[in-house]
Amino acid sequence: MNAVDPKNRMNELTSREWLQFQKSWFVLENSPLPDFIRFFTKSNYENGHSGHVGVYPTELIERNQKELPEDRSYIAISNIDSKQAADYVYIDLTDINSRDKLFGAKTQIDGLITWCRKNLGEQKYITIAAQNIHGENGSQPIAWEITKWFSEFFVQKDEKIGCRAYSEEEQAEKQNGWAPRNTVTYFLHFRKEKELPRQLTFELPWPEEKTKSTLPKSTKANDFTENWYIHRPPRREKGVLLHPAKFPEDLVERYIQNFTSRGEWVLDPMAGTGSSLLAAANCGRHAAGIELNPEFVEIAKARFAANAQIALVTGDAVEAKSYTEFPMLDYAITSPPYWDMLRMRGAETQQKRKAAGLQRWYSEDPNDAGNIADYLEFIKLLAKIYHHVALKLKPGGYFTIIVKNVKKKGVIYPLAWDIVAALKEDYIYCGEQFWCQDDQRLSPFGYRYAWVSNTFHHYCLTFRRKG
Ligand SMILES: C[S@@+](CC[C@H](N)C(=O)[O-])C[C@H]1O[C@@H](n2cnc3c(N)ncnc32)[C@H](O)[C@@H]1O
Repeated sequence: MNAVDPKNRMNELTSREWLQFQKSWFVLENSPLPDFIRFFTKSNYENGHSGHVGVYPTELIERNQKELPEDRSYIAISNIDSKQAADYVYIDLTDINSRDKLFGAKTQIDGLITWCRKNLGEQKYITIAAQNIHGENGSQPIAWEITKWFSEFFVQKDEKIGCRAYSEEEQAEKQNGWAPRNTVTYFLHFRKEKELPRQLTFELPWPEEKTKSTLPKSTKANDFTENWYIHRPPRREKGVLLHPAKFPEDLVERYIQNFTSRGEWVLDPMAGTGSSLLAAANCGRHAAGIELNPEFVEIAKARFAANAQIALVTGDAVEAKSYTEFPMLDYAITSPPYWDMLRMRGAETQQKRKAAGLQRWYSEDPNDAGNIADYLEFIKLLAKIYHHVALKLKPGGYFTIIVKNVKKKGVIYPLAWDIVAALKEDYIYCGEQFWCQDDQRLSPFGYRYAWVSNTFHHYCLTFRRKG
């Protein structure tokens, strides 16, 4: 038994156990409920009471009985009117697998919210397990919608994703059109606080199931449909170290091969040092790119020398004129600045980059999306750029955006989800794949006080241009 750190307000874990919990993704084999309870509660609070854990649905208590810590007490949230103080609440909504079921369960979910408002202690956490469901008509963003409902009253904290392997049967299942499999469960975290939280304003897109699509049937390869994967980028070459956030060519190549054929055209409207253009050329595709910062353009051009397959323009991707010299495109893949986070990071990496004389952010240019401080303005700018991309994409063409949800000064900004909502006029949203990193060092953020994860999963959002 470990000695309990008296300053640890959250739990009775050692710093090493705390660290293990910090990673934002995990391989989902058994129920994570016991581990969550050990993280979010104590067996013995200062006033002597043991942690009270609210669980929904009730049968989870029985099903996990052997693994649940014995020194906590469990409250079945079956009677919505009951008054029992809780230190932590775990709600499993993974059986909701369609829009109809979700909106059919609205009253029930409102009841759960009311229960938590009444019974959960201040500064205490709620975990919701939920899934988005991807299918041939597009993605149903169930987990994100549920987050919006809880976020009216509780502060959205970090998300963890539980990633499971898919069975041979699932693998053999033929899909009509491209969609990621459904093997990721979101564990969404909220905290009850005195002040009401920042409201989430997004209106999510839902697939139109009744109307027949006018798009051509997708003929694209269906082999890259993992909902999550671990990818370790090779070490970066010296020249491109100058760029603060480059993505790995071999990852981009997987996408390009999945969504295009030889000789087709691929675009990256924020090309940086040209990784996606190079990846496209490696796969025998033509590549088009736009990049605002002339220094990065220079590095990119040095990387691919005078390759006739690549057209790279120095310009602003928000302006239509930057796209005029490109033909109609078959696919686009890009990664935007993660808002102005590079300017925020007091982090170690930024200190190291400074010491090495490397650039810590993209540029001082006011048109650089990474320099926009207002979050909604930033989303609007990205939506404008992606609208130009839509105008250049052939109907039915796919578009992948690699991005993270970000946290700034303790507040979560669901950038990935906001982008999906902002693109609904031009694109069908096909679903998310997670690029999970397992080669990064964990930091014990929030130790003793709060749960602040190390975000080691990137969203790879794929869209399809509407007809
Ligand atoms: C995340 S980085 C892209 C990295 C790139 N995928 C790579 O691997 O090198 C985002 C890029 O967007 C560029 N950028 C920011 N605002 C832009 C704008 N308005 N038009 C074009 N590029 C812009 C930045 O200079 C930066 O290089």
